[in-house]
Amino acid sequence: MCGIVGFTGEHQAAPILLDGLSRLEYRGYDSAGLAVRDGEKQPEVIRAKGRLKVLAEKTDNGVAVLGTCGIGHTRWATHGEPSVTNSHPHMSDDGNVIAVHNGIIENYQELKDKLIRKGYVFHSETDTEVAVKLVDYYYKKYEGTPVDAINHAMVRIRGSYALAILFQEYPEEIYVARKDSPMILGISDGESYIASDVPAILKYTRNVYYIGNLEMARVRKGEITFYNLDGEEIQKELKTIEWDAEAAEKAGFEHFMMKEIYEQPKAVADTLNSVLKNGKIDLSETGITEEIIREISQIYIIACGSAYHVGTAAQYVLEDLTGIPVRVEFASEFRYRKPIMDPKGLAMVISQSGETADSLAALREAKELGVRTVGIINVVGSSIAREADHVFYTLAGPEISVATTKAYSTQLMAVYALALQFALVREKITEEQYEKYIAELQTIPEKIQKILEDKERLQWFAAKQANARDVFFIGRGIDYAISMEGSLKMKEVSYIHSEAYAAGELKHGTISLIEDGTLVIGVLTQPELYEKTVSNMVECKSRGAYLMGLTSFGNYNIEETADFTVYIPRTDPHFTTSLAVIPLQLIGYYVSVARGLDVDKPRNLAKSVTVE
Ligand code: F6R
Repeated sequence: MCGIVGFTGEHQAAPILLDGLSRLEYRGYDSAGLAVRDGEKQPEVIRAKGRLKVLAEKTDNGVAVLGTCGIGHTRWATHGEPSVTNSHPHMSDDGNVIAVHNGIIENYQELKDKLIRKGYVFHSETDTEVAVKLVDYYYKKYEGTPVDAINHAMVRIRGSYALAILFQEYPEEIYVARKDSPMILGISDGESYIASDVPAILKYTRNVYYIGNLEMARVRKGEITFYNLDGEEIQKELKTIEWDAEAAEKAGFEHFMMKEIYEQPKAVADTLNSVLKNGKIDLSETGITEEIIREISQIYIIACGSAYHVGTAAQYVLEDLTGIPVRVEFASEFRYRKPIMDPKGLAMVISQSGETADSLAALREAKELGVRTVGIINVVGSSIAREADHVFYTLAGPEISVATTKAYSTQLMAVYALALQFALVREKITEEQYEKYIAELQTIPEKIQKILEDKERLQWFAAKQANARDVFFIGRGIDYAISMEGSLKMKEVSYIHSEAYAAGELKHGTISLIEDGTLVIGVLTQPELYEKTVSNMVECKSRGAYLMGLTSFGNYNIEETADFTVYIPRTDPHFTTSLAVIPLQLIGYYVSVARGLDVDKPRNLAKSVTVE
């Protein structure tokens, strides 16, 4: 969903813009571009198809581009194929308005037709060029300020946008506007920064403003003024980002994915400790009181991708511990389903970025229906965090790799903490059980660490499987939820087709795909379901499958059945997802490396999915 950056200050802009874009490349990486302005001169616009390094080479890492004010973009194509012509920045024909954009303009065709009638000519297939020319049109029509022109354009645009715009008559200034696409503005010592996400500017400043929906800003050197949709000036509070700058660097690891896999013990411990006070879970920061907990009649978990997989595991844990019925839904389905919700229900939206378009829309839908909402969110100040009634912040720190690992693990921890507290308050577990569960949760970080220390076997196994054509992950109950995440990790970074199946379902059709050598990974962490899943694994073996078993130490003798076995430390069955997912993340990672792929930036993907 594209990354945008902007800078105006005393330093040369292009190297800062390229550095910022390099930290946003996870948001899109099919083309990139810059517009940099040197004083009053016409901005220089440089665009390149392909990874950011092509643009960096073209500009000698930015050194060849003079000027102290500029905007930059890294693209994930929506309208129009990746090409130089479709790359941002886009500009009006006379260069009066130049902009970069993240989002989707839904009524772009209608606006484009109108502008063509007014004499505008279009060169690209993008919706962004329409936005640029619309702003130019209103700027010239009303002869007002840039804020007036953007304002007029905003009320006509349907869809989502984070726009950073240069106006010919306003050197050293950048104008921004936002609706439903992320954007932060940073400030330090006479310099100002614009970015889609925190890591892009963390090296330069921790002081940021969060621009709200349907708001605009005029960005000058070290000075930012905000406006509402009526063009009136509004005040914003300057906030401090707590993440440390090193967290967004690779720190000696070859890939962010591996670094983030390794950060899991700390991230999980930090998230748990953030709500542990004197050995008890304290939800006061989230605003979820005991009275609220007692009232909940139903929990609706809504999320996308891996966050949805957290929800599928959470469903078992929450229902079992709290007795509250739980429903888990893809945000993209929920939002158009016309859901029937119990007013005493709790909608739990899980999202790392807090900006996923479908999850945000689902949150709004739930609020509209009068249901209390809680966000389990990693990015502080993100849209879902701001709009949810309650927020439980996960402390994963910045997650750069497109494939999530540590955010997923911290989301699980957040869900466990909520489940235990709900169970205690609703008297479904005793104080003694509660304390035992908490003590068990406290051992999870060191158990994850133990798995990481024994990764060589997994590397060997992954190298052997690097040419697999299909992989099936099977399990029952929580093991099915684990299988889903294992399968997604495998396919998204290794491009090997994989599927997760509820183990008992395979024989209802899919088993016809099993042939000699097909890899089937059986997840076996739930004592009550172990034998059932083993039977399903044996059914696959009889049809030629090569079996891997993933189970807890000392529990069972799976080695008689499986061709390759991976053991994880023992824990309470409710919490096994936190451990079982680690070898599966590692296998996905190592298969991707063995196939020589770009682990951190898999093809066609983007980290923060801010379009539908
Ligand atoms: C997969 C992955 C995605 C995200 C999904 C939701 O590795 O990272 O499936 O989990 O796009 O993103 P957030 O959590 O930002 O809402």
